[in-house]
Amino acid sequence: MDLVIKGGKVITASDTYKADIGVRDGKIVMIADKIEEPAKRVVDATGKYVFPGMIDSHVHFELPFQGAVSGDDFATGTRAAACGGVTTVIDFAIQAKGEDILETVKKRMASADPKTYIDYSLHVAPTDVNKDVLAAIPELIKMGLPSFKLFMTYRKEGLISEDGDLFMVLREARKYNAIVGVHAENAYVLERLIEQFAGEGKTQCIYHALSRPNFVEAECISRGIKWAEEAGSRFYVFHVSTKEGAWEIAAARAKGLPVFGETCPSYLFFTEEKYKGENGPLYVLTPPLRTALDQEVLWRSIQMGTLQVVSTDHCPFQKAEKMRGKDDFRNTPNGLPCVETTLMLLHNDGVLKGRFDLQHLVAVLSYNPSVIFGMYPRKGTIAIGSDADLVVFDPEKEFTMSAAALHMNVDYSPFEGKRIKGMPVVTISRGDVIYENGEFKAEPGRGKFVKRYLPEALTTSPEPAVV
Ligand code: URP
Ligand code: ZN
Repeated sequence: MDLVIKGGKVITASDTYKADIGVRDGKIVMIADKIEEPAKRVVDATGKYVFPGMIDSHVHFELPFQGAVSGDDFATGTRAAACGGVTTVIDFAIQAKGEDILETVKKRMASADPKTYIDYSLHVAPTDVNKDVLAAIPELIKMGLPSFKLFMTYRKEGLISEDGDLFMVLREARKYNAIVGVHAENAYVLERLIEQFAGEGKTQCIYHALSRPNFVEAECISRGIKWAEEAGSRFYVFHVSTKEGAWEIAAARAKGLPVFGETCPSYLFFTEEKYKGENGPLYVLTPPLRTALDQEVLWRSIQMGTLQVVSTDHCPFQKAEKMRGKDDFRNTPNGLPCVETTLMLLHNDGVLKGRFDLQHLVAVLSYNPSVIFGMYPRKGTIAIGSDADLVVFDPEKEFTMSAAALHMNVDYSPFEGKRIKGMPVVTISRGDVIYENGEFKAEPGRGKFVKRYLPEALTTSPEPAVV
């Protein structure tokens, strides 16, 4: 055996039991009450939980965006992710206008491959949906990229897709069993509201939220769902921030449509009140922070399974870059740093506050994203034959969040000073112990591109692919 993890409480989305886990050649090869076979390395997990590695299916590393570049590249970002118990990330290959989309993907992989410490994949984000892009879809699927993201906003940034673009991608996606996700905000309405507020001198941070009222998100979600239903395609809503958005998804699922959604820690932990303080710009992201009622509905949507995933939308900018928007929120690059902290935060405020149990924690952070995006059973569980991506989690260890104590390449933490109980202490990626008790030990480039696959059958529950 290369590695044995001994004496931990194993927690998957479906089971909790005490067992030893044996690893050979990067795979889980034995799960037993006691493993007596000799091993090159033993990790003692007595008194700890052993989770499957977390999957963050929404990160933005080294993203040039709104006059800045997100602070974490594939090296610092995946290193920080691993310190927080994440063993797989999905970033984006965002097409430049006019670019061959296969080139977009190859370029993004060329950036990621030499740097990444953990396994990764990419959502393909077309911004120029022409016949070549549609024709490339089968090739992208063959490469192991069955998920797409279209932006229903960001006109100025050149990312927006029009209604017809989205519909055409949904139709092609259906043919090849892919999933299509959206950033759902109605650009045309929010731009007019921003313009109106700015004309009245209303450019303080709170107007970032007020210019993007809840219906701006919910209307786009509803529109996207309609087309996905017509196209017969799987549909995914990135960073749901509003109660109305969650209810649109609940209604679609109640109709039996294969519609899925995520929310992010920013919306679960902060409200728009943050925009009223002097550090308001540090919390500017899109969609914006909402009210306490929206927040409560999002927690319940996670509890009830209306939203299946918590991803981070990790997109960190430095404090000085964020504070450019002190007097005018339009000058702040949008995004928050979160990739390292989500497991700790959801354990503390989800499990310890009684909102859901440990298995549900694993479902929303590992199993569900692995199934929805086509990585199961290689990732997202602890089973014979699965990759040995594992997290040893100490439920007693306490930590005070601070930028200095975390590993993300950003000079502030939105969670600064927050006290939590329960932390990852060992992170194992394909059998390699890459993080142990505060020490990170791995070479950049050891992470691998994960080829993903989605089955033909569509259901509302995240159903595993039988490959
Ligand atoms: O504000 C955000 N969310 N920045 C990252 C880009 C995006 O919209 O996902
Ligand atoms: Zn994002």
